[in-house]
Amino acid sequence: MDETVEKRVSRLRDEINRHIYLYHSKDDPEISDEEYDELFAELQALESEYPELVSGDSPTQRVGAPPSEGFAPVEHEVPMLSLANARTAEELLGWQKRIRTRLEKADVDPGQITWVTEPKIDGLAISLTYENGRFVRGATRGDGSVGEDVTRNIETIASLPKRIEGAPPLIEVRGEVYLPIPDFAELNRRRTEAGLPAFANPRNSAAGSIRQIDPAAAAERPLAVWSYGIGVTDGFEFETHSEEVEWLAGHGFPTNPDTATHKSIEEVLDRCQWWLDRREDLEFEIDGVVVKVDQLSLWRELGVAGREPRWSIAWKFPPTTATTLLREIDWNVGRTGHLVPWAMLEPVRVGGVTVSTATLHNEEDLERKDVRAGDEVVVLRAGDVIPQVVSALPQKRPEGAVRPGPPEKCPACGTKVVKPEDSVFSICPNRTGCPGQIFQHIK
Ligand code: IVH
Repeated sequence: MDETVEKRVSRLRDEINRHIYLYHSKDDPEISDEEYDELFAELQALESEYPELVSGDSPTQRVGAPPSEGFAPVEHEVPMLSLANARTAEELLGWQKRIRTRLEKADVDPGQITWVTEPKIDGLAISLTYENGRFVRGATRGDGSVGEDVTRNIETIASLPKRIEGAPPLIEVRGEVYLPIPDFAELNRRRTEAGLPAFANPRNSAAGSIRQIDPAAAAERPLAVWSYGIGVTDGFEFETHSEEVEWLAGHGFPTNPDTATHKSIEEVLDRCQWWLDRREDLEFEIDGVVVKVDQLSLWRELGVAGREPRWSIAWKFPPTTATTLLREIDWNVGRTGHLVPWAMLEPVRVGGVTVSTATLHNEEDLERKDVRAGDEVVVLRAGDVIPQVVSALPQKRPEGAVRPGPPEKCPACGTKVVKPEDSVFSICPNRTGCPGQIFQHIK
């Protein structure tokens, strides 16, 4: 084998591990999900071509990141798995074909398969343990085997039952914690006003909240949950996944009302398109559709490959982030005189819409992200929220690009701007006479 292949595998592992750390432990990713998936797919492809290079510590063999300090570790009795992705109809059909072939080889009739579709919530996976009907533990996924004990923070989620009637001695409910988009927009508004860095997307803010050391701080953020599965149970068996979901709904757990079952894979594909069409109207972010075989007996038959079950796949939507050129930074005066930086972009398609301006929130956020005119930048659209510049790609930066600062004079009335010490904004002090402020007020 080529020595460069070995080097590339090792480089990819380091790089992927760094991004896993930034995403899972810091809640502050540097690259988009799609860029991450590309690195991951390259590593998977090399490892399948050169199996002798696979090692237990490769990110392909693990899920997420090891638990961080600050939370007690929780061992997952049933591992919390990841999902393989399909990005096209062909990939989804290929997946169902592989399942059918595998079942046929095991003398199991694939004709019996029914499918379940659910939204793929872009949040944080959690495990909720109930003993004798009482909520006793909440944990993050961590690396899939060991997560973090976030019980106190989970307790602050009002929509989750703390007691369940008619429960078995032990049941572990699994689901996804997320921050509804309107609450995310409000949280970021408050954060930027308070001089705190804005969250890049609802997922990071939900992850940041659930992993707050201080439960009171977590309680300030209105987290929500969709539950979609059951982990460990004691003396309790279901025949199908849809029965699990029904049981959850019947026992007070929030389950997505648009979870559906299908007889054919064609119906599944129609449903994926249906979800894609309404993605923009939802109050929560989804990045795809999770397709699952309904029969749990077939789950056991199909088993797990590495960290991914064979009985489920994520049909992923096209990205809501894109990279483009930032032509210049413009400063707008807001209703209360705050000067807000805006990125004027080379128009780019993001999540089905062309975007040519994006917010940079405030001058401290701008400085923190170190975004400059002429940079290639990552632009994100989350639901109806104003598009925002998440980060720059400094490796592509043109020489001599200077850090932009606020103008000395108000762009609307020419008054000298001031920067109050406790503010993240420079301000036009001409409160009553500035046409920019008056216009924003009327608007
Ligand atoms: S099922 C079987 N169902 O997606 C293993 N996961 O990429 C996956 N997710 O870790 C659990 N929505 O955090 C399942 N309806 C859904 C989901 C879902 C979002 C997340 C979950 C998982 C990740 C895998």
